[in-house]
Amino acid sequence: AEPLRVGVAGLGTVGSAVVRILGARAAELEARAGRPIVVTAVSARDRTRDRGLDLANVSWHVDASQMARAADVDLVVELIGGAEGAAKACVETAIEFGRPVVTANKALLAHHGLAIATAAEAKGVAVGFEAAVAGGVPIVKTLREGMSANRMGRVFGILNGTCNYILTRMEKEKIGFAECLADAQKLGYAEADPTFDIGGFDTAHKLALLATLAFGVQPDPDGIYVEGIASITPLDLQMAEELGYRVKLLGVATRSEAGVEQRVHPSMLPMDSAVARVGGVTNAVEIDGDAVGALVLSGAGAGGDATASAVVADIVDIARGVSGPVFGVPAATLAAPSRAPMARH
Ligand code: HSE
Repeated sequence: AEPLRVGVAGLGTVGSAVVRILGARAAELEARAGRPIVVTAVSARDRTRDRGLDLANVSWHVDASQMARAADVDLVVELIGGAEGAAKACVETAIEFGRPVVTANKALLAHHGLAIATAAEAKGVAVGFEAAVAGGVPIVKTLREGMSANRMGRVFGILNGTCNYILTRMEKEKIGFAECLADAQKLGYAEADPTFDIGGFDTAHKLALLATLAFGVQPDPDGIYVEGIASITPLDLQMAEELGYRVKLLGVATRSEAGVEQRVHPSMLPMDSAVARVGGVTNAVEIDGDAVGALVLSGAGAGGDATASAVVADIVDIARGVSGPVFGVPAATLAAPSRAPMARH
């Protein structure tokens, strides 16, 4: 069978892990995909940096959009990040040239998901974004395919590994916020600008995508109430613990008569609840479906290999010929954001 030629834009922690896994698991992935998957092109600024990868036989592009339209690329993986600029141009170019896209870019899809899905569906190309929500946890596939028989009532969870790592360490080791954040950055969990993590905006981007998948509303991160974790102290966590609660930064989307309410803020959860028990960089999402009932998925929400796991799964799906609307239903049928009034809690 014809090989699927992959171009990877962005060779940071995740991009490097994707290239490495595609190489190391080539035979197994070919068996699953029904055709070889080969990296033929990459795009990154710094060509001299040692990433521990053999890139001798791939073409290099400084400009990601140039890579996206290169003659030796069938599928474009966008791991540059950011809602605008090079990442957006790269994805738009790929779609324009009729090439499927796999991305981990939650900011881009939260802000421009409707336009991107509309363009991709017009061209009949797939856009995979499993890695954009909860890292390696296959929550996108679960909501889009696995739960398609259900009407969802509520989706909520821990969607930022950096924040959960910080809160867990502050609680267990009673150490300060700044030290925990520095460690999360060292481990490669945090965004380039950690304000996105601790301010709750990364969680909001992911929640917007979950709400689109679960409730069929257009992604609308600007309509989400957002409060981060920067002002939480070890003492707050200790007080909550004494009362039998654990503090987690949650993203919550709820369907009500008034519409779909979406919010992000630190929340007290009963200590023995499934989501409260999840510590460290792990993410956890609980979904209530009317047919299946409550479902909890948890696993590594950040980090190179875990996020690459989701990226590679999307590549294999597309290599197999899996397609369909980006958010499960045609973009044109997504409801305008409802901005339901905040309920009191
Ligand atoms: N900075 C994000 C996190 C990475 O900490 O969860 C995954 O999106």
